[in-house]
Amino acid sequence: MKFGIVTRNPEAWSSTQVREALNKRSIPYECFTFPRLVARIAYKPYFKVNNTSILDDLDALIIRPIGRGSLEELVFRMDMLYKLERQGFYMINPPTAIEHCVDKYDIVALLEDVNVPVPRTLATESVNEALRAFNELGGDIVVKPIFGSRGQGATRINDIDIADTIFKAITFHHGVIYMQEFVDHGHSDIRAFVIGDQVIASMCRIADGWKTNYSRGARPAPTEISEEFKEIAIKASKAVGCKIAGVDILEGPNGPRIVDVNSQPGWKGLQMVAKVNIADEIVKYVLNEIKK
Ligand SMILES: Nc1ncnc2c1ncn2[C@@H]1O[C@H](COP(=O)(O)OP(=O)(O)O)[C@@H](O)[C@H]1O
Ligand SMILES: [Mg+2]
Repeated sequence: MKFGIVTRNPEAWSSTQVREALNKRSIPYECFTFPRLVARIAYKPYFKVNNTSILDDLDALIIRPIGRGSLEELVFRMDMLYKLERQGFYMINPPTAIEHCVDKYDIVALLEDVNVPVPRTLATESVNEALRAFNELGGDIVVKPIFGSRGQGATRINDIDIADTIFKAITFHHGVIYMQEFVDHGHSDIRAFVIGDQVIASMCRIADGWKTNYSRGARPAPTEISEEFKEIAIKASKAVGCKIAGVDILEGPNGPRIVDVNSQPGWKGLQMVAKVNIADEIVKYVLNEIKK
């Protein structure tokens, strides 16, 4: 039995937690980054990193954030994961989940398909259409980079002139305009951590402003979430193909709205208030899955 951990930094907090959970169970592991992977076609080993053949020597891969890169690099990384998956290799998360979750439009589109409540959202490459939609969405919107994370680049706009400037800047750089009605959540939201078909931990994130990302300084507070919220979070995780997911739930005036599903979530903030050791839960889950 041996695990692989794909991580840019084995010393990063969540990766360290995974390593410690494996150490506790005396399970050997190897950490590596995507750029070190070598793919072979029509001869073997199909995938090698250092002297390790992924398919022959490893039993599972835990994939931490896939990282930034050029389109070419990212597509190549995904292609390798899909090939591994076709060979029957176990990965958490599976490539489909990673692919869905980098794309904010895809996330809410898939959630809507299964009736998970999401904010009214409009995405377009047209500045004029986006400006027309500004009032449709109540004249108070959040514009987010489709491929963003950690709240970076997300902007709240309630002035149409500013919207015009921002939309033009986005399309000038060949970005897609992605805008959402502002959900009045009172500067806090819920992060539910889903493994398989269970919410294993959750927290309330309390911020000084409207962005409640832990990485931006929001404070974790313990919370027990309702069965309804648990069900929504699990359904959301499944809808995007995740086996493990960090689901962001905003409580607005019209009920819960899911804004984000993270396929490679960190859990440093959550662990402070969680009752279980999250890395242990992940390792236990993977061991159980590969036994099947
Ligand atoms: N439609 C919205 N209305 C109000 N606040 C929002 C909305 N969408 C996102 N936010 C806030 O911004 C934060 C970051 O947005 P999110 O969609 O989770 O993207 P990411 O975390 O990947 O940057 C959320 O945690 C939430 O606090
Ligand atoms: Mg988020």
